[in-house]
Parts: sequence; structure tokens; C-alpha cells
Amino acid sequence: MRILAIETSCDETSAAIIERGENGRMHCVTNVIATSLALHSQTGGIIPEVAAREQAKFMVPVIKEALQDTPIDSIDAIGVTYGPGLIGSLLVGVEAAKTLAWVWNKPIIPVNHLYGHIYANWLSEIAPQESDFPALALIVSGGHTDLVFMENETSLRWIGGTRDDAAGEAFDKSGRLLGLSYPAGPTIEKYAKSGHKGVFTFPRARLDTPYDFSFSGLKTAVRNEVQKLQSQGDLTEPMTYDLCYALQEAIFDMLIQTTFKAAEDLNVKTILLGGGVTANQTLTERFRAVATEHNLAFFSPERKFSTDNAAMIGAAAIMHNTPLPWEELRANPELYFD
Ligand SMILES: Nc1ncnc2c1ncn2[C@@H]1O[C@H](COP(=O)(O)OP(=O)(O)OP(=O)(O)O)[C@@H](O)[C@H]1O
Ligand SMILES: [Mg+2]
Repeated sequence: MRILAIETSCDETSAAIIERGENGRMHCVTNVIATSLALHSQTGGIIPEVAAREQAKFMVPVIKEALQDTPIDSIDAIGVTYGPGLIGSLLVGVEAAKTLAWVWNKPIIPVNHLYGHIYANWLSEIAPQESDFPALALIVSGGHTDLVFMENETSLRWIGGTRDDAAGEAFDKSGRLLGLSYPAGPTIEKYAKSGHKGVFTFPRARLDTPYDFSFSGLKTAVRNEVQKLQSQGDLTEPMTYDLCYALQEAIFDMLIQTTFKAAEDLNVKTILLGGGVTANQTLTERFRAVATEHNLAFFSPERKFSTDNAAMIGAAAIMHNTPLPWEELRANPELYFD
């Protein structure tokens, strides 16, 4: 099966050709990504109208480049993200996919962007197998932090998530308080490597629902510490590194504690990560180590498939191949798990 996949849920415009051969393995033929991130770092966050306009500008050139040498006749279906995301951005990809489905007379497969972050794991050389299930997937992205129980490769049952900020948002909002540009996640990871343990300690939220997360208290604690240091004229560069270390450790401790508690309760064999925060090597190394301690298999997407991309949407379209007549497809910014 060969898919043309399209992703435009936020500030990345992406198109990919993904195929699955007789052996069941996924192969990424092309994965083209244009991003308007530089514009958003100037404004300290995403302005939806700006993101949508950039999507419209990049969509056709990105699809053209992704198609390269792939004959249109050889494409079986078009997979497209229809939610969740920013409505203006989503509409660009959805309408492009509908137009191509109509002109080429191809089926269209609507894809939940969050499924994409999970199925990014299927694009690796070593992908999850049927024998790795039941599994627990943790999505850690800019807009979401969700725990999803997977009885098998295609069943996805949401069991918990963040009550306020997402993990990526905790990085970005705290980074802003520290004067770091958007998105702050990669800079915080870098600074944390030069930071020291024990200089600062931030609180780990404890909730009465076992599989939920909360990161907004952390942001307040960072704000208080930054204001205190600033008023004392003490916010030096090495101190920023120590703050980044403490912030990152607090986020990861909360993610690890809740995920492995759920893994134990649900008796899973495997932990799967997905979403942009998995680009953080400290996160994946810590998860891998704890998974090994618990005798669990562990998967995390290759770095190039961790932040938004169409390849992961193609993988999800292949795994959840439920085509829809193009006339019936609507973007749904509020889409979630069933
Ligand atoms: N190395 C890193 N360490 C920590 N966070 C990171 C790192 N690299 C990226 N991030 C974070 O990942 C997020 C972007 O991830 P992603 O592209 O999956 O999110 P999104 O698509 O905006 O949100 P969603 O998928 O929920 O709609 C940002 O919050 C960014 O700060
Ligand atoms: Mg995303």
C-alpha cells in the first residue's frame, strides 16, 4: 500500500510518501517539511492567522516535492490530518487532500494527528510487533500529554492526560519566563546539560486521579523563583542552567512516575512514546532505563519523526485505513480520542 500523506495541523506544512510492503514493514519514501517556526519565535508563540497563511503558501510546493518520482497512478490513497489543531491550518491540508482525491479519484483516509504521534514509532527499522502488546503509549507534545492503552496494534483507549498545560507547553511557557525564545524545549534541554542537581527543586504535582498530569503549578513555581532571583539581581547564566535542569527533572519525574504506575496497573509489556518532547534525549534515556528496570520493551520515534511531520500521518493512515468519500471530510480542531 502506498499513501500520500498531508499534515498541516499547526505550524509545519508537510507531505510524505509512505508505503508498506509484503513484509508488513513501513518505508518512508519522502517526507518534506516546511515550517513557519522562525516567524513564531519572533512573536514568542504561534499566531493562528499567521500559521494558516504560511500553510497556504507552502502547501502546493511541499506536495510537489514529496511526490518527486512517485507516479500518481501508484498512490493508493491520500491520508490527511483532520484534527486536532488550529482550524485555519487544518483547513489548508484538508482542502488540498479533498481536491487531490477528487481530481485523481483516490480514497481519502482521515487521520487523527495524535494517532500520528503514536504511529511514528512504526517508521523505525525496529518497529513494535503484535507480540509487544498490550502496550501503553505516552504522547508528549506541544499541545497534548496523554496516556493511551493499546490492547493491540490498532486499539487506542485514552486513560488519562494533563488537566492543564501539556508537557511541551510547560517547557515553552517556563522558557519564556527564563527569557528563552519559542519553542524553548530544545534550549532547555541544552542548558540543563550544564545545570547542577540540587541547586533548585520544583514541586511534582500529586493528583487524586492516578493517570493524570498537571504542569501549571510548575510554571508558577518557576515564575516565583525567577522573580525572586531577578529582584536580588542574581539571575546569572549558570543559574539559568540550574533552573533548566530542575525544571526538566520535575517534568520528567512526573511523566515517569505516572506512566510506570499505569504500566504496572495495566500489566503492559511495552512503553511507547510519541510527540515533539521525545526529541529530548534525556527524556528518552530516562524512560529507556526505567523500562529496562521494569522489564518492559521501549519505543520512541526517531528524532526526525518526533515533531510534526506527514510521514507519521501516513503510518497512522496505513494502520487505521478507514477511507471516507472526500465530500464527507471535515476538519475538526477539537478531535480527541474516541
Ligand atoms: N529537545 C526538546 N526538549 C523538550 N521539548 C522539546 C524538545 N524539542 C521540541 N520540544 C517541544 O515539543 C513541542 C512541539 O512538539 P509537536 O510538534 O509534537 O507539538 P505540536 O504539534 O505543536 O502539538 P500537538 O501535537 O499536541 O498538536 C514544543 O512544545 C517544543 O518545545
Ligand atoms: Mg504534533
